[in-house]
Amino acid sequence: MNLVEPYPLSPKRDVPASISRPEYVGRKGPKPYRGTDVQRPETIAKMREAGRIAHLAIKEGEKVIAPGITTDHIDQVIHEYILDHGGYPSTLGYRGYPKSCCTSVNEVICHGIPDARPLEDGDLISIDVTVFKDGVHGDNCMTFGCGTLDQKSQDLMNRTREAMERGIKAVKPGRAINVIGRVIEAYANRFGYGVVRDYTGHGVGTAFHTGLVIFHYDAPGATTIIKEGMTFTIEPMLTMGDYRSHVWDDDWTVVTNDYSRSAQFEQTIHVTHTGAEILTAP
Ligand code: MF3
Ligand code: CO
Ligand code: CO
Repeated sequence: MNLVEPYPLSPKRDVPASISRPEYVGRKGPKPYRGTDVQRPETIAKMREAGRIAHLAIKEGEKVIAPGITTDHIDQVIHEYILDHGGYPSTLGYRGYPKSCCTSVNEVICHGIPDARPLEDGDLISIDVTVFKDGVHGDNCMTFGCGTLDQKSQDLMNRTREAMERGIKAVKPGRAINVIGRVIEAYANRFGYGVVRDYTGHGVGTAFHTGLVIFHYDAPGATTIIKEGMTFTIEPMLTMGDYRSHVWDDDWTVVTNDYSRSAQFEQTIHVTHTGAEILTAP
């Protein structure tokens, strides 16, 4: 099996001055978030719009997935879609991240940087897009096959989506937050998949990452009670083998130690009176 290798990056893409940027752009990193994880209805309404654009941007990217297409081209399509809809691609300039989305291929778990590598028939690719608009972020990720996907990769992809959906269904006000990871891990275990631990879901709103952590495995210490009005992501990364990972010399690209393939799905959700509303929906 060929492993994914780094390729050259294209020059930095421009964003017109008319589009408002998150505070961390042009700085080393974000200011610490001091707000709450329960958002006001007006904030949630804005997140619905940012989330919708993030979702539709991924769907635009999906359209061009084909053998021979570079992940940089996918980034260009997504970058332009976001700008055309008045948003800013939240990852561009986040802690020095150079691109407008993350494209994570095969054994890359997450934070893969779009570059000149042409996709190959049979590749498994996740596209993670976050959009900042009107002062709030919406964060969404989906995994796709390029060309003809082998059965094991298709299963991993479908079951990772299912794992995320089960996590979302477990969300109810009054429950401890670790219920999410418990159901995701239990489902993944049925198939012997690894559940990535080093990267988690997170509170999201006016900040990209609020500090609230959503584990995708059963973390007994995660006793925060889920409250109506909370907004956070659920974004499990499942692997065909071991869950352990390391980071490339680019300081971003996260790959499995055993080079087994990985898939990821992510939604931004809002906790309602009875469950969860998906904000990253069309
Ligand atoms: N969108 C990713 C997440 O789900 C974060 C990407 S940060 C980046 O949290 F800098 F790597 F782009
Ligand atoms: Co996220
Ligand atoms: Co994301």
